[in-house]
Formats: sequence, structure tokens, C-alpha cells
Amino acid sequence: MDPNARATSGSDRIPTATTMRAVQYDQYGDASVLHIGEHPVPRRLPGQLLINVLASSVNPIDYRFRRGDLKGIIPFGFPRIPGYDVAGIVVDTDSGSGFAQGDRVMAFLDHTRGGALADYAVCAVGSAAKIPDAMPMEEAAAIPLAGTTALQSLRDHGKIRSGQTVLINGASGGVGMFAVQIAKSFGCHVDAIASERNRDFCLSLGADHFYDYEQDDFTKSSERWDIIFDVAGKAHYLAARSVLKEGGHFVSTEPNIEGMLVSILTWPLSKSGRVMLAAPSGNDLEELIRLYELGKLRVSIDRRFSFEQAGDAHRRIESGVDHGKVVLVNEQAR
Ligand SMILES: NC(=O)c1ccc[n+]([C@@H]2O[C@H](COP(=O)([O-])OP(=O)(O)OC[C@H]3O[C@@H](n4cnc5c(N)ncnc54)[C@H](OP(=O)(O)O)[C@@H]3O)[C@@H](O)[C@H]2O)c1
Repeated sequence: MDPNARATSGSDRIPTATTMRAVQYDQYGDASVLHIGEHPVPRRLPGQLLINVLASSVNPIDYRFRRGDLKGIIPFGFPRIPGYDVAGIVVDTDSGSGFAQGDRVMAFLDHTRGGALADYAVCAVGSAAKIPDAMPMEEAAAIPLAGTTALQSLRDHGKIRSGQTVLINGASGGVGMFAVQIAKSFGCHVDAIASERNRDFCLSLGADHFYDYEQDDFTKSSERWDIIFDVAGKAHYLAARSVLKEGGHFVSTEPNIEGMLVSILTWPLSKSGRVMLAAPSGNDLEELIRLYELGKLRVSIDRRFSFEQAGDAHRRIESGVDHGKVVLVNEQAR
């Protein structure tokens, strides 16, 4: 696969067979359950795009599903194709959709089941966005789920405004690296928390101050923040409340029972707590691409793997990345 593939007619990418290669698992378990299998090419319905997938990336939700952590909440059958992030080339679309065969795109798959680690994937037209020629597919693949989570957490749940003080707890990972940069793009003062080894990385993203979570407990700080974005899902609203400014928002990515209760009970309060769930949005992808083109959103790739090495990619993110995103490249794609 040419990671910098430019737009072609797309017709040379139309599937010639009814089946395709995909990474799949047939039971819950550790990363060894992931293997390559044959699957029907997904059927594109009206309002959807069929995309030839050239690259994807791994998010914690992928291994949480694979391990069966969420089986009581979101049931699904096997085999299952993991992955929500897609970068690739449109091979089929409705006329008038705003997309054309051959367009280079990124997409945040809107299917509960995922399906990105395959030669082909389908998604709603409204969950994809065209990417510029200068954006490498590998970088495009790193953005959709993590970038959308960061943007929606700060803008929609945190109600971010210029001049505010923002704390990002878990600033060096996939979501955190985008959150720091997005908060800076809004003109905020940004404090970042991660492990000491990621101090320089977080400062290089634009963070104004850095805290090592092994040395500093931010909930005991004399600082006060308008937004505390708990990317890592390690903090608690009640503890963080004392360091929130009046009118401030605590936003968590961890959709547990405690977080749900906090969301319901604190919404009328001056200091609210919210749990967010990222929702696919082509408009939000366009906003992230706009920031990228302005040089305000840099993508850091922790490590690259092929689709055949999906198990190693899951192990990498499960055991903790150095920083940034783990990307998967479809090396067999034409
Ligand atoms: N609700 C949603 O829609 C949604 C969407 C996306 C992600 N998420 C969740 O968000 C979380 C983060 O996702 P990600 O892709 O950014 O994961 P990631 O790439 O693995 O990053 C994890 C981050 O957490 C930091 N961290 C680890 N232990 C910490 C601690 N005790 N205190 C503070 N920070 C700590 C890590 O720092 P070091 O590496 O420096 O230790 C790193 O910056 C995951 O739990 C994921 O499931 C939820």
C-alpha cells in the first residue's frame, strides 16, 4: 500500500470478488484470538460509502470489546471485525452524496460492531470527510475516533471558550494528544498530566504546564480549572470538584455507573460532571482536518503494524504506548 495514495478514479479499486480479507475474532480472549479471515464484501446501502481501507488505528475500545469487557452492555455475534477508524479511497457512493469514486477520505465507523480492519468498509456519508492530498493515510487513520472524542469532549461537554484554563488528565495518549492541541487552538491555557517520560512530548504539543500523575495529585492543587478533561478515566468528579472553577465542567471518557449518575445529578449545578460518548460526525472530522491544515493539529504515531500484525497492535496499546496512536496499514491493498 502506498501510504500517500492520491485520488485515482477509484474504479481500479472496485472489488472484483464477493469476498475480502479482514482481521476477525471468533471468541472473546487475549490478542491471540485475532486472525485474518475471508468475509463477504459489505453491501453499500443508499446513503452510505463503500471505502477501500488503506489504514486504520487501534483504540482502547477495540481491546475492551475483544476481551468481552462490554459483552453485557453491547451484545454482538461472531465473527467480529474490529476497528472504528478508516482512511482509504471511496469506491462506491450515491450520486449527489458530496463524495465521488476515488476521493481520499477518513471515516469514524458508525456501526456498533466496528469493521475497519478489512479490505472494504461501509459507513454513512455523514460519518466521513475528504482528506487533503498532503495528508498521509496513516495520519488520517489516527484521527477519527480519538480526535472526535477530544473535540466533542471539550467543545460540546466542556463548553470551551477562549481564555479558559483547561486540565487534560491523560495528555500523552491518542485522545489526550489531540485534546491538548484542540484546547490550545481555542486560545486556552492548558495543563497536561501524564507520566514523567512524556513531559517533553506534552510540552511539545503546546501544553503550558506539565504534571506527573505519579508525583502530583491534581485534586490537591492550589490551581483552579474551567475544564477538567479526564481522558484517562482515572479521576472522580467528587474529588475534582474542589479544583473546578465556578461554572466549570468535569468531563470523563469512562462510561461507568458512577459517571452516569454524576451526569444526571450534577447537570443543574454550577460545577457539572459529564460522561461523554463519542458520536461519528463528518462535520467534526472536517473541523479536525481544518486544524490539521492550519498546522494546529499534529499527529504523532507511536508504532505502525500491518493488518496481519493486528494482535501485536492490540498488545501494544493494552500494555501502554510510548505516546500517540498505534496505526495499522493494509499492506495487501491495491
Ligand atoms: N467515551 C468515549 O466515547 C471514549 C472515546 C475514546 C476513548 N475513550 C476512553 O478514553 C481512554 C483514553 O483513550 P486513549 O485512546 O487516549 O488511550 P491511550 O492512548 O492508551 O492513552 C492513555 C493515557 O492515559 C494516561 N494515564 C495512564 N494512567 C494514568 C493515570 N493514573 N492518571 C492520569 N493519566 C494516566 C497515559 O499516560 P502515560 O502513557 O504517560 O502513562 C496516556 O496519556 C480509554 O479508557 C478509552 O477507552 C472513551
